[in-house]
Amino acid sequence: MSDVVTFDRVSIVFGDRPTDALPLMDAGANRAEVAEATGQILGVHDCSLTVHEGEMVVLMGLSGSGKSTLLRAVNGLAHPVRGEVRVHDGDEAISVTHADARTLRRLRRNRIAMVFQQFGLLPWRSVAENVGLGLEFEGIQWRERDERVRHQLEIVGLADRADARVAELSGGMQQRVGLARAFATEAPILLMDEPFSALDPLIRTRLQDELCVLQRQLRRTVIFVSHDLDEAFKLGDRIAIMDGGRIVQQGTPRDIFTRPASDYVADFVAQMNPLGVLCARDVMTPPDGPADGAVPPDLPLAEVMNRLRGRPLAVAEDGRVLGHVTERAVLARLAAPRG
Ligand SMILES: Nc1ncnc2c1ncn2[C@@H]1O[C@H](COP(=O)(O)OP(=O)(O)OP(=O)(O)O)[C@@H](O)[C@H]1O
Ligand SMILES: [Mg+2]
Repeated sequence: MSDVVTFDRVSIVFGDRPTDALPLMDAGANRAEVAEATGQILGVHDCSLTVHEGEMVVLMGLSGSGKSTLLRAVNGLAHPVRGEVRVHDGDEAISVTHADARTLRRLRRNRIAMVFQQFGLLPWRSVAENVGLGLEFEGIQWRERDERVRHQLEIVGLADRADARVAELSGGMQQRVGLARAFATEAPILLMDEPFSALDPLIRTRLQDELCVLQRQLRRTVIFVSHDLDEAFKLGDRIAIMDGGRIVQQGTPRDIFTRPASDYVADFVAQMNPLGVLCARDVMTPPDGPADGAVPPDLPLAEVMNRLRGRPLAVAEDGRVLGHVTERAVLARLAAPRG
């Protein structure tokens, strides 16, 4: 799996003397302490993360934890005072942080598309014109552009509003226009800053599903910001959890669920439904007596529950029985989901 985006010990400070804040930040000071002592605002500190090709990584954390700031460093909208972000293009690693204006423009045009928390749409233009904006910049001919735009609009459920002006749409609809615009470009890297947060729950769930399906086809490299853990667990191949500008844990949803690295993370995952995260492997016990059929070790717990009929199920891989799953073990695990 090749690397596509590398965050290499990225620190971002807002203020006129950003370097003044670094020693305190290195010593572990929090945002309030840094502000008090130096008048500078800690954006993010010492964040390292590698995003692989075709992977969806979710930056997740409470408001103010630094998610947007870290994301914006990928297309050069936020400037690290130390460390750097690199974007890989084949064998070439391009430092976004140290790129000249021309390189940055090229990256933004060809490699990286962004869906903003505020969508950055042109309100006086039509929906279709907004969705096609990136394609227009790329110099793609009208006919092909129109086709791709229609297709994206269908996906986000706005085909019948193609000719409406964006200003006439609701906030949620505008967000879907922003989403369609990002997907219409062929940029291999998509940055999405809470693209679904203003949507009502039904449309939100639908777009999350759409994104999963699209992603399975297109295999873009996506960095997705969310403060909603269920959304993060649903979308993320991996999740980086942020607190006070620092990445406090990164791993697969299952890693994070089963081994939260701190009380902060544990508090987050305590709200999760374990059925969506755990799998047969997590609840199996040593084999004991006969079993009633077999399931693979990575079968989600919700599915395991469906198959349990009172008798134990074998958990087997390559014809080898690894353990048994019993109703009693599942219920015990659900009662005490972590450990
Ligand atoms: N341009 C700026 N100038 C000064 N401070 C900023 C700037 N942008 C962000 N910050 C500060 O940096 C910290 C991290 O902000 P950021 O927007 O990255 O958080 P976030 O995790 O995206 O939060 P939210 O979920 O509310 O969007 C906050 O304390 C914020 O006030
Ligand atoms: Mg944000």
